[in-house]
Amino acid sequence: MRELGPLGTLRAWALEPSGATTQVLSASPLRTGARVPDMTAHLELNIDWHRSFGERNPLLFGYFLEHFHRQIYGGIFQPTSSAGSSGLRLDVIEAIRRLQPAVVRWPGGCFASSYHWRDGIGPQRLPSFDKAWRAEEPNTFGTDEFVAFCRAVGAEPYICTNGGTGTPEEMSDWVEYCNLSGKSRNARLRVDNGNAQPFGVRLWSIGNENYGDWEIGARDAAEWARYVRESAKMMRRVDDRVVLSAPACGDIDWDVGLLRCAGEQLDLLAVHGYAAHGGASYEQMVARAGYPEQKIARAEQMLELVGLTGRVRIAFDEWNPRHWHHPGHAGRGRPNLDEWARNDDNSTYTMADAVLHACFLNSALRHCQSVAITNFSPLVNTRGPIYAYDGGVVLRPTYHVCELYASRTLPEVLDANVIVEHFKAGTEQGGVAEVPRGDAAVTIDRAAGRLAIALTNLHPDGPLECEVWAPGRRFAATGGVVTLTAPEVDDFNDVDHPTSVSPIRAELASTGERFTVTLPPRSVSVVEIGAEPW
Ligand code: AHR
Repeated sequence: MRELGPLGTLRAWALEPSGATTQVLSASPLRTGARVPDMTAHLELNIDWHRSFGERNPLLFGYFLEHFHRQIYGGIFQPTSSAGSSGLRLDVIEAIRRLQPAVVRWPGGCFASSYHWRDGIGPQRLPSFDKAWRAEEPNTFGTDEFVAFCRAVGAEPYICTNGGTGTPEEMSDWVEYCNLSGKSRNARLRVDNGNAQPFGVRLWSIGNENYGDWEIGARDAAEWARYVRESAKMMRRVDDRVVLSAPACGDIDWDVGLLRCAGEQLDLLAVHGYAAHGGASYEQMVARAGYPEQKIARAEQMLELVGLTGRVRIAFDEWNPRHWHHPGHAGRGRPNLDEWARNDDNSTYTMADAVLHACFLNSALRHCQSVAITNFSPLVNTRGPIYAYDGGVVLRPTYHVCELYASRTLPEVLDANVIVEHFKAGTEQGGVAEVPRGDAAVTIDRAAGRLAIALTNLHPDGPLECEVWAPGRRFAATGGVVTLTAPEVDDFNDVDHPTSVSPIRAELASTGERFTVTLPPRSVSVVEIGAEPW
């Protein structure tokens, strides 16, 4: 963590109730494409401690790993390197641990839709051809290695089954392999492979994006709904403690059909979202700030329509601020495996990614009653927060956001009223979006009398003066503000400049009913402060 540097725009001070000021909202929207330095805007955050959104879900800060390019091989797993006996890369594992990953979804993604788990167990592993990405899969990293990885990083495993070329029986055999203790042919295989104790994998996804024509074994809505119901039934016959999800896409026929037919068997509706394209600019990225909330709201509507609100929750189990460069998996033309290497270009990932990711996490926090799981996609390499290369790792700007939220937000999410002006940002499609200058999520630990307030300034150039107010309460203790920003809007971290974008910390003293903190442009912060017992 570096000290407040030349940016110097992070100021924090407290106002006694008597000294409270009325902040006048400036109403000067940014012209699209215009850069207006030093245009301070104001955000008013009114916290009402009676209005709670509920508990922050423990599985909220999760990740995704797919057998795609260098995520597994050359990412987390490299048996020939300085890795431990497990073949896991210790430098990568160490960086992942610091993120406190609650859950990791694996093995895909599209990869899962033609993956047969038996290819990845036992002493004899033969390579197979991965038809999703049209690359050779060595199969040296399989179920046992994945569970060992999860244990090494402290995450709960979340396995995505083959809903493309697989069968309900193959899925339920996989549950047997992982969760039964004996008297099962598949569980005995696990024991023979050196794992006498069941893995106890609780979280399972039935298929991946089976609604899309790009997916191997894509199906129509009615076919898919019956298939999910039968798969879930068989998996539960093996282990009735499993927690099951199935993919939804926001289409009313697909989602409602699935939920009506198989909803009784499901615990989670799986949603994916990639907000902007690979080369989108800062402005185009923040123009998508409302996208995560829209995706969540759409899934909530589907659950509401079939009366499953509260019973079935949402697994936002693939999310990234950007789409990935693919080798051409739609099956048209020749695969171009050079294409996916473009995802590894560290200069792509700037404060735009960090700010949009913070907006995503804020949305997930605010919808904690419906969102049970989120998975940043992927965890390592391509578009992930960690870039692993032969000489070590680079922590991209999104890494710092992930770490900030996982380590500092608190167990309960409070409702809060945010008043902030909007600015105009040009979209990728050539339109103009109205973007809020700031975004917030408020978390609390009532027993400890602590608040952690996540605040994002989305504007590329203008500071944001945030006035935080809790009517009838006093902020009673000192605190601090940890902020991620960068001197330039397109700054990034890479092998030669690993800390260009890194967090800074400032002290905050407040004894009043309100305090003000000024956030630098394009920044993500968490304010930690004590309060009277809540
Ligand atoms: O590009 C990765 C792919 O994105 C995942 O495999 C799929 O689930 C999503 O469409």
